[in-house]
Amino acid sequence: MAATSFVSAVTRRLEGKVALITGGASGIGHCTAKVFTQHGAKVVIADIQDELGHSVCKTLGPSNCTFVHCDVINEEHIKNAVDKTVDTHGKMDIMFNNAGITDDNKARIIDNAKADFERILKVNITGVFLGMKHAARVMVPARSGCIISTASIASKIGGAASHAYCCSKHAVLGLTRNVAVELGQFGIRVNCVSPYAVATPLANKFVGLDGEDLEKAMGGIGNLKGVTLKAEDVANAALYLASDEAKYVSGHNLFIDGGYTILNSTFHMFEYPDE
Ligand SMILES: NC(=O)c1ccc[n+]([C@@H]2O[C@H](COP(=O)([O-])OP(=O)(O)OC[C@H]3O[C@@H](n4cnc5c(N)ncnc54)[C@H](O)[C@@H]3O)[C@@H](O)[C@H]2O)c1
Repeated sequence: MAATSFVSAVTRRLEGKVALITGGASGIGHCTAKVFTQHGAKVVIADIQDELGHSVCKTLGPSNCTFVHCDVINEEHIKNAVDKTVDTHGKMDIMFNNAGITDDNKARIIDNAKADFERILKVNITGVFLGMKHAARVMVPARSGCIISTASIASKIGGAASHAYCCSKHAVLGLTRNVAVELGQFGIRVNCVSPYAVATPLANKFVGLDGEDLEKAMGGIGNLKGVTLKAEDVANAALYLASDEAKYVSGHNLFIDGGYTILNSTFHMFEYPDE
C-alpha cells in the first residue's frame, strides 16, 4: 500500500460507508455524525427535532449529511428512514440506534407512574428494536452491515438512573446479544456502547446541572481521574465498532466509563493518601 493511501485508510476509517443515526440532531448522535463524516461516511440523521437536525446537516455539509424526520417509536418512520438512506446512497452499512430519553429520577418505585415507565421503554427499547429490525431488512440481503446501539452504564449496574431507564438499557444489551447471535450468519455485527455521564441536554436534565458543572460533579464521583468524558469519546467508540478494525467484534457492550462499572467502592482496597 502506498504511504498516502495508508494514511488515508487510517485517517478516514469509514470511507465509502453509509450510516443512519437516530437521535443525531443533538448530543452524542450529533457528535457521532460529525466524526463519521470526518472519516468519510455519508450520514443520514433521523430525529424528531427537525430544525436542529437540518442545521446540523448544514454544518456538516449537505453532500455528507441529510436529515429525515423520524420518531423511533413509529415503525413507518423507521422504515422510511432506512429506505431513504438506501435510496439516496444505494446501501446502508451502519445503523446507529442512539435516540433515547430519560425521565425524572423518582427513587421510589411507588412514585413512578405506569405511563412514564412505558414512555421510556417505548423510545429506548421499542425504538432500538425497530431500528435493528429495519436495518436487518436491508443488511441481510447485502450479507454485511453493522448495527450499534447506545446503551449506558445502566445496562450493567443498578442505582445509577430511574427504574425505567435502567430497565430499558439492560434491554438494549439483551437485544444486542440476541440480534448479534441471529445476524452473525449473514456477516452482520451487532454491538452497543455504554457511556458514563456526558454533558448533553439529556444528562443536563437528569442531573440538573449544565456543561462544566455536570462534568465536574460527575468527574468527581467517577473512577478515572484527570480526564473528562466528552461526547466525542463515545463517538470514537462508535467509530471503532463501525470501522473494519472491529471486523470480528460482535455482541459486545463497549463501556466508555473509565472503569466506573467494575468498581465496588465499598471495598476501599486501593485507597491511597493524596500524593
Ligand atoms: N448523556 C449521557 O450522560 C448518556 C449516558 C449514557 C447513555 N446515554 C444515551 O445516549 C443516547 C443519546 O443521548 P444524549 O445524551 O446525546 O441526549 P440528547 O438529548 O442530546 O440527544 C438525544 C436525541 O434523541 C432524539 N430523540 C428523542 N426521542 C426521539 C424519538 N422518539 N425519535 C427520534 N429521536 C428522538 C432527541 O431529539 C435528541 O436529538 C441516549 O440513548 C441516551 O440514553 C447518554
